Amino acid sequence: MKKDLITILDLSSEEILSLIDRAIVLKKNYKAGIKYIPLVGKTLALIFEKPSTRTRVSFEVAMYQLGGQVVFLTKDVTQMSREEPIKDTARVLSRYVDAVAMRTYSQNLIEEIARWSNIPIINALSDKYHPCQVLSDLMTVQEYKGDLERLKIVWIGDGNNVCHSWINAAIRLDFTLYLACPKGYEPALDVLENAKKRKNIIFTYDPIEAVKGADVINTDVWVSMGQEREQKTKECFFPYQVNSKLLSYAKPEAIVMHCLPAHRGEEITEEVIEGSQSVVFDQTENKLHLHKALLEKLLV
Ligand code: CP
Ligand code: NVA
Repeated sequence: MKKDLITILDLSSEEILSLIDRAIVLKKNYKAGIKYIPLVGKTLALIFEKPSTRTRVSFEVAMYQLGGQVVFLTKDVTQMSREEPIKDTARVLSRYVDAVAMRTYSQNLIEEIARWSNIPIINALSDKYHPCQVLSDLMTVQEYKGDLERLKIVWIGDGNNVCHSWINAAIRLDFTLYLACPKGYEPALDVLENAKKRKNIIFTYDPIEAVKGADVINTDVWVSMGQEREQKTKECFFPYQVNSKLLSYAKPEAIVMHCLPAHRGEEITEEVIEGSQSVVFDQTENKLHLHKALLEKLLV
């Protein structure tokens, strides 16, 4: 059976942990100059409806480092822009390439492509989830903190796609996840409903309560791609800004994470993102190695 990565819930706890371990080994081997090219002759298609710097480049370079190649497409340049049915597009691509990574406005589109393809489909960000981001962020947490269990990880700000993937990660793994979002910007009800079965996922409107004693603090933009026209009121987000005062409630050795791109002065201050506790560029780097581990798992 082909395997997809549409949400983190497609993976078992063991699969998540072994992906992280494997990504750490691939990173070490790469830095030691060890060549490893198991994907010679394999092609990944990337179909991106939204902009990307990190995810696109890290997937492309991941394929090249593993000996494979990529075809980069935007939806506009394909016949999808002229209403070719998704089920036809999916079956056409299945005859040419070995996997597809998609970044779309709609989670439904990725699910529909996955339903009709007989090759692995990877969610490279949708309105609902960003699973690859959180897998590589878990890798970064493991590198800094060792074991993921017993950590207090906090999500502060918008209850968005990255937040949803953190919730899914906490459904699979045993760290404690505190979520603090403004009223009206909580995570989606169905994602929270799933999380209710787990005692390690705690929602609060109080950012200080969430950050107290935290090991890891995570935030993201207040306005995600595709939400630019929504009238999101930024005022209610300011108490959730990751600044030095809020950070002072966390453990002194806490790390600060942001998937990037960041808006300094909104969800995070310049001082914090450039400060000694920020690990944002390690997160960026780890996307490359986690994507290699994922492509190896799906394609070798
Ligand atoms: N973090 C992330 O997904 O960045 P890009 O939008 O640049 O891919
Ligand atoms: N929540 C952000 C993440 C960007 C990587 C967005 O969807 O725009």
